[in-house]
Parts: sequence; C-alpha cells; structure tokens
Amino acid sequence: MKIKSAEFVISNQDYKKCPKLDEPEYAFIGRSNVGKSSLINMLTNKTSLAKTSGKPGKTQLINHFFINKEWYLVDLPGYGWAQVSKVLKEKWDKMNKDYLLFRENMASMFVLIDSRIPPQKIDLEFIQWAGENGIPFGIIFTKADKPGNSKIQANIAAFRRELKKSWDELPPNFVTSSAQKVGQQEVLNYIQAINESL
Ligand code: GTP
Ligand code: MG
Repeated sequence: MKIKSAEFVISNQDYKKCPKLDEPEYAFIGRSNVGKSSLINMLTNKTSLAKTSGKPGKTQLINHFFINKEWYLVDLPGYGWAQVSKVLKEKWDKMNKDYLLFRENMASMFVLIDSRIPPQKIDLEFIQWAGENGIPFGIIFTKADKPGNSKIQANIAAFRRELKKSWDELPPNFVTSSAQKVGQQEVLNYIQAINESL
C-alpha cells in the first residue's frame, strides 16, 4: 500500500470523544517504550507525526492519525512502566481497555512486542485479556534492526511457543524495525487486506 497522506487529527482521554465512527481504524498498543509511536512514523514515512521519546511514558492520550483520507492509525499509551504512579497507571489502563472494548470501528489492534528480549509476562497477560474479550489483533515484533539475528529469532520463537500454550491458532505476526525500515509493506498490506474485506 502506498501512503499518500497522513495527518494528525485529535488526541483524547476518552474513546467517546474520538472521531466519528465512519472509517476503520487500527490501534497500536504495547509496553511503554516498545516503539509504538516510532512504528507509526515509519509506516507513514514521516519523521515526527507521532511523538517519540527515549524515556517511557511519552504517549499519554488516544491519538488519531488519518491515513490516505480513508482509515486511521491510533497511537495509545503504553502499559507496564514501573516508574509511573499507580493512579496514572490505572488511568491509562482504563483509557486503553475502554477504547479497545467499545470503539466499534476498531478493525484490528496490533500488540507490539520487543524482539530484543525474551517473552514478558505482562505482554502474555495482555494478549490473554484481548483473547478473552474477543478483540481482533495481530502481533508486531519491534526493534528487529537485524531481523536475521539469532537472538531475535530465538525471542520470537519463544514468544510464539508461549502463545501456543493457550491458542490453537496463532494471530498474524510481523517483524519490524523502525530504525531500519523493516516490515513496512507487510504491515500496510495486511491493513489494506482488512480494509478491502470490510
Ligand atoms: P510510549 O509512548 O512511552 O509508550 O513509548 P512508544 O512505545 O511509543 O515508544 P517510542 O516510539 O517513543 O520509542 C521508544 C524508544 O525506542 C525511542 O528511543 C526510539 O528511538 C526507540 N526505537 C523505536 N523503534 C526502534 C527500532 O526499530 N529500533 C531501535 N533500535 N530503536 C527503536
Ligand atoms: Mg508512544
């Protein structure tokens, strides 16, 4: 898929205030600092459409970006950042979960997993929650700057093995690097296929 336009639309704390439900949208979620905002920039060929940071906790709102004037990418706050206060953590979790449960035009979410580290309990628990709630999703392994690297391959294989313990069929998964522009067309073509099926 070719990106012809990508525009920031609005940031919200509440899914009810997000744009009208006219177009499909795709939400990016994952641990703080996993690379959600960077991936949105990579997919859209923009350097600073979504705000990124070396420090966790940068994205704190539900951010809508309108792509090709046909569909939205949605950047969400991260989960699992130890340094954030309990109150704020609960606020972000509720914001994300309400959005994911009740946003009717959310065609698929992508759960982002850091390919450089072994499987993390918090990610597996989040995926479990998504499955129990019937939320459609794909998995994106991020920061695979050298996708053929044996450690990255081993981490991805280990994550898939963990998922197989509770899933008969694995969700679609992608390997990306925003730094090296790996996986852009794979993710965009998957979104296009869903858009065309709607
Ligand atoms: P929050 O908004 O805080 O939840 O984080 P986020 O998931 O949006 O992460 P963000 O995109 O802000 O990136 C976090 C850090 O990871 C930044 O320092 C990025 O430069 C770095 N990063 C993102 N993608 C990649 C990648 O593909 N490779 C490498 N090496 N670093 C990356
Ligand atoms: Mg972010």
